[in-house]
Amino acid sequence: MPLDAGHDWWRSAVIYQVYPRSFADANGDGVGDLPGITSRLPYLADLGVDAIWISPFYPSAHEDGGYDITDFTGVDPIFGSLADVDALIAAAKKIGLRVLLDLVPNHTSRHHPWFVASRASRSAARRNWYIWADPAKDGGPPNNWRAVTGGSAWTFDASTGQYYLHSFFAAQPDLNWRNPNVREAMAGVMRFWLDRGIDGFRVDMIDYLLKDEALRDEPLDENGWYDQPLAKYQLNQRGVVDIMRSLRRVVDGYAGARILLGEVESRLPIDVLVRYYGTAGQLDVLHLPFNFWLLFLPWQSAALERFITDYDGAVPEGAAPNWVLGNHDVPRPATRLGAAQARAAMVLLLTLRGAPVVYYGDELGMPNVPIPPERIQDPWSAALPGGGRDPARTPMRWTRGPNAGFCPEHAMPWLPVGDELEAINVEDQRHDPGSMLALTKALLALRRACPALRGGNLRCLQGPPGAVVFSRVHDDERFLVAINTTAAPVEVPLPAGTSGIVRISSAMDRTGTCTTLPLRAHEACVLEWIPRS
Ligand code: NOJ
Repeated sequence: MPLDAGHDWWRSAVIYQVYPRSFADANGDGVGDLPGITSRLPYLADLGVDAIWISPFYPSAHEDGGYDITDFTGVDPIFGSLADVDALIAAAKKIGLRVLLDLVPNHTSRHHPWFVASRASRSAARRNWYIWADPAKDGGPPNNWRAVTGGSAWTFDASTGQYYLHSFFAAQPDLNWRNPNVREAMAGVMRFWLDRGIDGFRVDMIDYLLKDEALRDEPLDENGWYDQPLAKYQLNQRGVVDIMRSLRRVVDGYAGARILLGEVESRLPIDVLVRYYGTAGQLDVLHLPFNFWLLFLPWQSAALERFITDYDGAVPEGAAPNWVLGNHDVPRPATRLGAAQARAAMVLLLTLRGAPVVYYGDELGMPNVPIPPERIQDPWSAALPGGGRDPARTPMRWTRGPNAGFCPEHAMPWLPVGDELEAINVEDQRHDPGSMLALTKALLALRRACPALRGGNLRCLQGPPGAVVFSRVHDDERFLVAINTTAAPVEVPLPAGTSGIVRISSAMDRTGTCTTLPLRAHEACVLEWIPRS
């Protein structure tokens, strides 16, 4: 019986994140769109991923890259139409790709009709769809809560004399999830898309959905500061898990396995993170709460090994881990870690237990692309180190031709494509057996073919300093993965009495049998692991 067939597809699925503005531009306006994505689905099926998650394409004021939505059940004309969504879903189904859409329940755009109505007066019927509070005695914000993007989480609305809460930018007022009408409205949004045949949602900022009802100040440390992921009153309140359970019931009401992949704060302690699964025996919250720790851990064997062991061990029995190496909010792995390290990290991502997420372009080793000041799009860019989020959101590089094949030559891509990155493109890498694309494809093919790599147990083994070594075992099938996180060669002796056959090296240049595995700088290998007879 193969692991993870049918209903459990998501347990070991490889989910590919598409940032719609940047994937493929079919209508030649320099902005990616839905027909562009549809035209590239065969590339993704051939790559070997199981599902795509498409970041928001809904009507938006574009004050936060589409995460400031003005209509949850529409399509922004820059991306296409509802008919284009239907065509995309149908085309994906035909070639066996599942489709997840982004659900953004924590906030709307300030231009959403719900907020416009809420802001109209203190007695407006929709007033308590959002979180309003009177000024503090000194006229300032009601409490000391910070927005994730910095500064107060409160903005004053002069016309009604109250502050509204926004966990992110002021352009994104937070909905009031204590109001049953908000819950029902969001369930309606989910049904709207589920009825069209999607396979589930990636859910934005779930841990922020409820805030302390009394709006108590966050306790500050001696520097007058508090650590956002650990905030006491702004997130992870009692009750958020129940809200997630209610969203889970919505997807569970549909035939087939529709799933929820939920975004939690990126540095949540493991014990808080795993609460979003539910408990062993009652896994009724999220199918997959995001685990973002690979984005922040140092690329060092001890730290990685400790985290892998602790997290894998903390995921409740019967649930599946999740791993993320890149996304639209953080620098790309090829920039964050280095080009060679990014190849080794792809080996890690695709051989760990659970359901990994691959960010578009990371399969090519696309680095961050520097953005000249006059072309900055992301309002957060100025405040974040390294030019913010735009450099990791640049157009997919399809060819070495004009505009990297993302849009026609006459068009101006919405962000620079990175003209100096000639060799980093799908067309060239497809013909290069040593390319990062070839490596990613080989890893995905091996994973598909081998139950041990998809769903087998994981155990970290003692490796030499600098190397992360772990086994993946299912029935008689055994693999050993060894990753050199350093710039110096290391020798990984295989456990006594065993040998290995190199199935994949991150350098894509070796095979062969060994009893001890020499790894070059930043090299990672996947070995079929054989007890010696
Ligand atoms: C998390 C998303 O990943 C990010 O891009 C967005 O800006 C915030 N949530 C606000 O929705």
